[in-house]
Amino acid sequence: MTATEPSSTARPPAPSPAPSPQSAMRLRELVFGAACAAAVRAAASLGIADALGEEPATAEDLAAAVRAEPRPLRRLLRALASHGVFTETDDGRYAHTDMSRQLREDAPNSLRYIALWCTEPWTWQAWPRLDEAVRSGRNIFPDLYGKEFFDYLHDDAGDSARVFDKAMTHSSRQSADDLAAFLDLDGVSSVADIGGGQGHVLAGLLEKYPALHGTLLDLPQVIAHADPRLRAGGTLADRTELVAGDCRSAIPVRADLYIIKNILEWDDDSTRRTLRNVVAAARPGARVVVVENLVDDTPSMRFTTAMDLLLLLNVGGAKHSRESLLGLMTDAGLRVKDVRPVNPYLHAFDSTVPVRQ
Ligand SMILES: C[S@@+](CC[C@H](N)C(=O)[O-])C[C@H]1O[C@@H](n2cnc3c(N)ncnc32)[C@H](O)[C@@H]1O
Repeated sequence: MTATEPSSTARPPAPSPAPSPQSAMRLRELVFGAACAAAVRAAASLGIADALGEEPATAEDLAAAVRAEPRPLRRLLRALASHGVFTETDDGRYAHTDMSRQLREDAPNSLRYIALWCTEPWTWQAWPRLDEAVRSGRNIFPDLYGKEFFDYLHDDAGDSARVFDKAMTHSSRQSADDLAAFLDLDGVSSVADIGGGQGHVLAGLLEKYPALHGTLLDLPQVIAHADPRLRAGGTLADRTELVAGDCRSAIPVRADLYIIKNILEWDDDSTRRTLRNVVAAARPGARVVVVENLVDDTPSMRFTTAMDLLLLLNVGGAKHSRESLLGLMTDAGLRVKDVRPVNPYLHAFDSTVPVRQ
């Protein structure tokens, strides 16, 4: 039996009414989801959205601007326009839509790097192995590339690592303001961002609170490219400590407040180790705020469930439900006080490290 054949134990199909033409069409579209993702990736890589201004342009003009062949570019634009990314005008030119504008690098809430990140070359190797990951419950990344995901990213896929950093930077920037507005830092004089990426959330908080001190902990390759404001010579450097390390091994940082945002999405063992390391490092009474997108409370179930599956493939991880994250935090010894939305996509789990008996 090949991997694509149904098992001999499959039940015979139940008698059912003939499928509606709409459902058949929708399923055909679904199985071509890769074409849709590839088209968006091609538009982002070619820089079509950046080349198109506010005036509609012909495929020929756009082809000249992005150094492509006009006929295949027109086909690409037609496919994209069928999904509402760009639109074709009555005279056969192409214009921006809300969605295509967000592929511009200079768009205020640009999704260009998120579009590239979600369609990086390794994803196209990983998706066909989803059935394996579902069977085994494990990530397939080590089988594919001989090492764990973040090791591969930093050792072998420099371009992908840069796209990842930029995608994280863009989404951090977009959520940093929301988080800074959300967090009440009364009585907090030091904050540590664990797995804080290049430090946009931290820099935002340090700029907002001039007496605050901050620590950014992340992997060495990420710390090396921290936000220039936080590095030596930067405007916030005298209030910042940069710590290169693995938070699953140790968190050698003392702070009043620990922020752990969008990193507890790997396997549960890594999450347990990270939370226990925070509890071990923190003084009793310190505050630990975990910020995550929840799979059971999201305005975008299709995006979040897709990301959940990608996390299964690459790091053996998952997007959490409210219950699963509460369970892991409580097991680690944290007292969760409340769970509140930071914005429609993110929830903050506000907790404290209990006084040791
Ligand atoms: C999805 S990003 C989130 C970044 C940032 N917290 C934010 O919300 O924008 C996950 C971060 O975890 C970091 N990370 C992954 N494994 C880590 C580890 N073992 N120790 C410390 N940081 C790690 C990655 O380098 C990356 O910056």
